[in-house]
Amino acid sequence: MKLRESGMPDEVFWETLLDVKLILDRLGIDDTLRDVVELGCGYGTFTLPVARRIGGTLTTLDIEPDMAARTTRRARDAGLSNVVCMVADVGADGFGVAPESQDGCLLFNILHCEEPVRLLAEGARTVRPGGSVFVIHWRFDATTPRGPSMAIRPKPENILEWAEQMGLLTNSSGVLDLPPWHYGIRFTRT
Ligand SMILES: C[S@@+](CC[C@H](N)C(=O)[O-])C[C@H]1O[C@@H](n2cnc3c(N)ncnc32)[C@H](O)[C@@H]1O
Repeated sequence: MKLRESGMPDEVFWETLLDVKLILDRLGIDDTLRDVVELGCGYGTFTLPVARRIGGTLTTLDIEPDMAARTTRRARDAGLSNVVCMVADVGADGFGVAPESQDGCLLFNILHCEEPVRLLAEGARTVRPGGSVFVIHWRFDATTPRGPSMAIRPKPENILEWAEQMGLLTNSSGVLDLPPWHYGIRFTRT
């Protein structure tokens, strides 16, 4: 089932809303990471830049065939051989990687879903102990030009509470400001 309010606007507009380099720099996504899994590739906005930075494979999935096709095409056109892109429903199929097989898991613009604690826990379980779960989300501010409705939009403190409640993750970054519109948190798998 498609996660609530997870549809995408036009690609060009979407990509004006995110400073991808700043976001990846501040989260510390670099070649110290080998394999990384991403939930919801969308247009591949983060998939390609992350794949260029890491030392291993970027596995990504999306429930929308058009999104997976767009990301696959962009990766191929960019000559990236370390992107594996699947059409899959995370609820029914999981993340498509073995437990504790990844150095990192990306949960970008998705934790406004119906069961965020469960999704965070499932993402955490893909990562080896000492690996990282990276979260970004829209600021809790009704004036952002895009983002889920305020009724379901998580505040940073909600995400920190969920992680603490779940017990698999410790916060290793504090809450990062990711201007113009986002915040981010890097967790370490215990
Ligand atoms: C808001 S977009 C974010 C895309 C990307 N992470 C980014 O930040 O640019 C969320 C993506 O998750 C996908 N999605 C929604 N429900 C899903 C599910 N159950 N399984 C896999 N992907 C899903 C949507 O199709 C969409 O492409």
